[in-house]
Amino acid sequence: MTNRTQNAMWGGRFAAGPDAIMEAINASIGFDQRLHAQDIAGSRAHAAMLAAQGILTDKDAEAIGEGLLTVLSEIEAGNFTFSSALEDIHMNIEARLKELIGEPAGRLHTARSRNDQVATDFRLWVRDQADAAVAGLTALQRALLGQAEAGADWVMPGFTHLQTAQPVTWGHHMMAYVEMFARDRGRFADARARMNECPLGAAALAGTSFPIDRAATAAALGFDRAMANSLDAVSDRDFALEFLAAASITAMHLSRLAEELVIWSSAQFRFVALSDRFSTGSSIMPQKKNPDAAELIRAKVGRIMGANVALMMVMKGLPLAYSKDMQEDKEQVFDAADNLMLALAAMEGMVRDLVANRTALEAAASSGFSTATDLADWLVREAGLPFREAHHVTGALVALAEKKGCDLADLSIAEMAAAHPAITAEVYSVLGVHNSVASRQSYGGTAPDQVRAQIAAWRTRLG
Ligand code: ARG
Repeated sequence: MTNRTQNAMWGGRFAAGPDAIMEAINASIGFDQRLHAQDIAGSRAHAAMLAAQGILTDKDAEAIGEGLLTVLSEIEAGNFTFSSALEDIHMNIEARLKELIGEPAGRLHTARSRNDQVATDFRLWVRDQADAAVAGLTALQRALLGQAEAGADWVMPGFTHLQTAQPVTWGHHMMAYVEMFARDRGRFADARARMNECPLGAAALAGTSFPIDRAATAAALGFDRAMANSLDAVSDRDFALEFLAAASITAMHLSRLAEELVIWSSAQFRFVALSDRFSTGSSIMPQKKNPDAAELIRAKVGRIMGANVALMMVMKGLPLAYSKDMQEDKEQVFDAADNLMLALAAMEGMVRDLVANRTALEAAASSGFSTATDLADWLVREAGLPFREAHHVTGALVALAEKKGCDLADLSIAEMAAAHPAITAEVYSVLGVHNSVASRQSYGGTAPDQVRAQIAAWRTRLG
């Protein structure tokens, strides 16, 4: 055990410094240095407010404000030595400030605590990430919109149970994801609105006896208002959990699209060709072009949802107010946010670059009896059959076509009429996939007109 010095910040009541293991488990500087810009912004707002309230002299506040800017530029230039003996970003910055400006640095911590300080820093950081997620999602929506516009009337199989169900349009399929990612954006925006209250000035847990102006610091940091309860302000991390929940749902949506790209780019489907920029080759099989980016995006939901669960477990059962457990919030959120942004950017690039194979899509749409429902609907509409009977007649014709190894449209009119006498040659008009999709004009349906209307509405919304 080396002879460790007392902590400069709180060493007053300690006779000895911490054990090395204590320092190792306690220090967060290894990761919370990512909060340096938020920490400095918070401290500058706090110092300016203290001066405005006559708690600090203008001279001291000015020295603190300037000194903090120097620290910021040192950190950004990579000239700052972070020390784990100083535990965290808050104490690292304050210690350096003291070296730079001397005595006034010790006045900065008046009327606050690291508890409200870290809660403020982290809210600012997560707020930025919510904005970044919205921006990433918007960019991805634009890429999907581009694909939808190009193939608004291209026909492809729509699936249920991954079995061919009914023909749909490529544009319609792309626009389904535009809607999902819109709700994801909404979740980040909602979370941001709720998190945008300022904990600063809650101090350790009970507020402070100094005449601080919490509304001023809240406004200076772009918050809508100060948090109304000091215990709550320092002790909840629900804002981070909401971010992680929104991130988890987004990652789940990304994983579904990623999975479709993996399937669609396979030799068995050939629905899309992924660009070289977002694929890799195999070191042994020369024919391979692997959708690695899609696979990795598909996997990200595991760690992002994992972070959500991990932080939920950290928070459950914690009595009010602050406990050191809460220091475990940051790494989870940092990792989840980094990976979410990466996944969004990679997906945007993949979607923008991919080339859909119109011919393969249409060929697949025409196989698998995808217009069987259209035949049943025709029997209801034109021959007045109850739907259940129409379903049965159509089923018999599908079985016949399957036995003969042909499509429904290849059956002769005699074979059709043998299944039900009301069937006439008119029926062939609904057996084509283009007629099938064009007929689905119900609001939100797959008809190209409907899809184009949705695309136009989204173009206006996204600007
Ligand atoms: N590094 C700490 C954290 O991330 C800062 C707050 C420390 N507060 C305390 N009372 N020890 O939570």
